[in-house]
Amino acid sequence: MTEMRRFIERMPKAELHVHVEGTLEPELKFDLARRNGIELPYRSVDEMRAAYDFDDLPSFLKMYYEGMGVLETEQDFRDLTTAYLTRAHAQNVIYAEIFFDPQAHTVRGIAYDTVIRGIRAAQEDAEEKLGIRSQLIMCFLRDMSAESAMATLEQSLPYRDWIVGVGLDSDEKGNPPVKFREVFARARDEGFGLTMHCDVDQENSTTHIRQTIRDIGVDRIDHGVNALEDKALCDEIVQRGLALTVCPISNRCITGSLKALEVRRMLEMGMRATVNSDDPAYFLGYINENLVATQEAAGLTREQVVRLAVNAFEASWLPQDEKQALRGRLERYVVSQAIA
Ligand code: ADE
Ligand code: ZN
Repeated sequence: MTEMRRFIERMPKAELHVHVEGTLEPELKFDLARRNGIELPYRSVDEMRAAYDFDDLPSFLKMYYEGMGVLETEQDFRDLTTAYLTRAHAQNVIYAEIFFDPQAHTVRGIAYDTVIRGIRAAQEDAEEKLGIRSQLIMCFLRDMSAESAMATLEQSLPYRDWIVGVGLDSDEKGNPPVKFREVFARARDEGFGLTMHCDVDQENSTTHIRQTIRDIGVDRIDHGVNALEDKALCDEIVQRGLALTVCPISNRCITGSLKALEVRRMLEMGMRATVNSDDPAYFLGYINENLVATQEAAGLTREQVVRLAVNAFEASWLPQDEKQALRGRLERYVVSQAIA
């Protein structure tokens, strides 16, 4: 193993862009299907993995929504989240902000309460047993109506303390940020952090990124790589100090390119880029694989790798004191490696 790889793997990290439903590994999918008496259209884990053959966002989303059909009970959501947090902990993730898609479950007749209680129980358990801290971000499905998103926001209010922010995901085509202007204004009033997906190489991408900043007032941008096509937009992102949660292996699965050089350019321009895993069970890479692939493809220096990690802690939605404490763990690691 190269020294750089070992440095990345042992580094204390924060992950800011991971969909809990996208961490559902084939083995667990089979276990849950068996437990819930659901028949899957695959005979084996290998056959299921072989079907993960995406070339764009819709072809990925089809598998993603189909896959989560095995999640039915509170225990299922708990097992799913425990599996992710255990794997993240093994990769030295010390803090994660985890997306979940409640509408993808409520439309199937699963109660909101079932979903969030299962996830929350796993978070509490993992924090106590493994010491990994995490917070939840509720995403609205942008291919559903703004009214449905607003109803979901209202459903979330009894659990306000369990959710740190709201996001927007699913199929971007024809579903611009401004479609959800009122929902995000209400979320802002309720005190949620705001973020939105601006997926890679989507139609009208720079227009959408501008809308997230100017019309929605996001605190962060998920993906957002296409901002690089527009210098004025990059300048605005730098000036506002907005972080971008880039997911290189996801980019490779969906667009054919890791966009690793784009990550380097962002860093060189002073944009607060971070590297994350998105849907690791589908794209076959957790945070370490994403960081290693990006470092190797773009020839990132150790300082640039550390900058990516520092950016993630800084852009997190933790209280200032906790943010400082976790960042301190990263800084002590970097110093210890410089001496070694
Ligand atoms: N839902 C899960 N992963 C997603 C992604 N990368 N883009 C949009 N919606 C998603
Ligand atoms: Zn995503």
